[in-house]
Amino acid sequence: MRIYCAKDYEGMSRRAANIIAAHVVVDPACVLGLATGSTPVGAYQELSRRCAQGDLSFSRVHTVNLDEYVGLGSEHPQSYRYFMRKNLFGQIDIPPANTHLPDGLAPDAEAECSRYDRLIRELGGIDLQLLGIGHNGHIGFNEPDQAFTLGTHQVRLTQSTIEANARFFATEAEVPRAAYTMGIKTIMQARAILVVVSGAEKADIAYRAFLGPVTPQVPASILQLHPHVTLCGDLAALSKLMEAGAEVCG
Ligand code: PGA
Repeated sequence: MRIYCAKDYEGMSRRAANIIAAHVVVDPACVLGLATGSTPVGAYQELSRRCAQGDLSFSRVHTVNLDEYVGLGSEHPQSYRYFMRKNLFGQIDIPPANTHLPDGLAPDAEAECSRYDRLIRELGGIDLQLLGIGHNGHIGFNEPDQAFTLGTHQVRLTQSTIEANARFFATEAEVPRAAYTMGIKTIMQARAILVVVSGAEKADIAYRAFLGPVTPQVPASILQLHPHVTLCGDLAALSKLMEAGAEVCG
């Protein structure tokens, strides 16, 4: 694993954007696995800026997002489709047809999960998967569990995730209780993985994920077994890892 430590959120976002942009420059038709949440927003802004300046084109890129709330359609302001349109897809030159997320309104959950896994396979797999980490160690919506999950599936959200996401809704009661998510196996099959973490409140989980035991109780800990992981964080989020002697590139 390579660890990049930036001074602050802006530096971390620039570094993450550099890595994503490099994949697009090397392979303009690459498949990017994308994430929602607040952490990647700065990187998305930086990519949007470079695209607007004409320094980068996503015209042949395909994207597959990690997850989507069950029950929210693409026009719902808290749906992940809406989030991606607002924060990235609407700001870059990617054809909308090249952007993929699970369909929160699909009538048949099992068929929707199979469709999404088939789609990822037909695209040739994911070249670079971007990930944030939840406070409980979740990646996508793969919550702490007794076993690592496989392909795309429907999950019931844990109370801690519902509470963490309530900040985006008028009331906690409005947070959907279920979501579709890529499974751990889908994520681990990506050829490269970029994890972004920011802020002191992520220091403990970053430490547990990357220096603690590999366990489904901390889903992100499985990333220790992936051969091409880059962890991009700011000083606050990486403080515990660095205190424990993790080697940082700069
Ligand atoms: P955050 O979410 O980027 O908003 O902290 C991360 C996650 O829950 O995956």
